[in-house]
Amino acid sequence: MLAATWRAMHAAAAAAATTAPVQVVCGLSNVCFTQVAALIRDTGLPPAVVQNEIHVLAPPDPALLRLCRTHGTTLQAHSVLAQCKPVTPDGATLLHHPDVTRAAKAAGLPAATMLVRWALDAGVSVVVSSKNPAHLAECVAAAAAPPLPSSVRDILAGARRAVGCDVRVAWTGRGRGDPQFMHLQCRRCGRHTGDLRAVGEACGKCRREERDGDGDGDAA
Ligand SMILES: NC(=O)c1ccc[n+]([C@@H]2O[C@H](COP(=O)([O-])OP(=O)(O)OC[C@H]3O[C@@H](n4cnc5c(N)ncnc54)[C@H](OP(=O)(O)O)[C@@H]3O)[C@@H](O)[C@H]2O)c1
Repeated sequence: MLAATWRAMHAAAAAAATTAPVQVVCGLSNVCFTQVAALIRDTGLPPAVVQNEIHVLAPPDPALLRLCRTHGTTLQAHSVLAQCKPVTPDGATLLHHPDVTRAAKAAGLPAATMLVRWALDAGVSVVVSSKNPAHLAECVAAAAAPPLPSSVRDILAGARRAVGCDVRVAWTGRGRGDPQFMHLQCRRCGRHTGDLRAVGEACGKCRREERDGDGDGDAA
């Protein structure tokens, strides 16, 4: 079904190419390595762009990055500032995450510039959005900034460890009947689940166990 849709999209793009004033390409969004590899295998038609959520707490999947490079596909980060939503249990946004603040100071860059630079250094292109021209200028400045030194990248890697696990936003294709449902990873049991609102939280089962005293503390 997906393969048939994908072929039809490519046929429509090829037809439009003869008259459209702009280049027409076909891309995918919020897909994992397995999904992209299967589509290319089944159709022989690589996407021009794969746009996924990628930021310092959800780094690009190396296998997907390699696959994209092999097929001339641009892997593009959306939500590189994590949409300014809370990313820690106490409600800090990525721009105000303590490790991000520390890393930005070490890099001598505004936090937004540094986070966009981090994504570029990870080998992906970036799409950002802002209603504020000064904010946009900070993001765009990343293109002219030098690559982040390893000391800064280490601090940012620490932000992932600090929330209790190597947090990844995983597109598992198994969630709530939605093939692209976003799952976060429970900080306690590591299960990918849709019942987390922010990275670094525990899932409902672990929260209940902690509340009921069935946690992994020492038995009295
Ligand atoms: N394919 C998908 O599923 C998907 C999902 C989400 C987003 N996207 C796309 O990805 C692009 C970016 O996504 P997004 O806007 O949701 O997330 P984002 O770029 O992570 O965050 C945007 C937010 O960051 C703020 N911001 C931007 N620059 C800033 C700065 N220098 N300092 C402080 N705050 C700053 C903006 O607020 P202000 O306006 O106040 O600056 C806005 O609230 C959009 O084009 C969107 O359509 C795609």
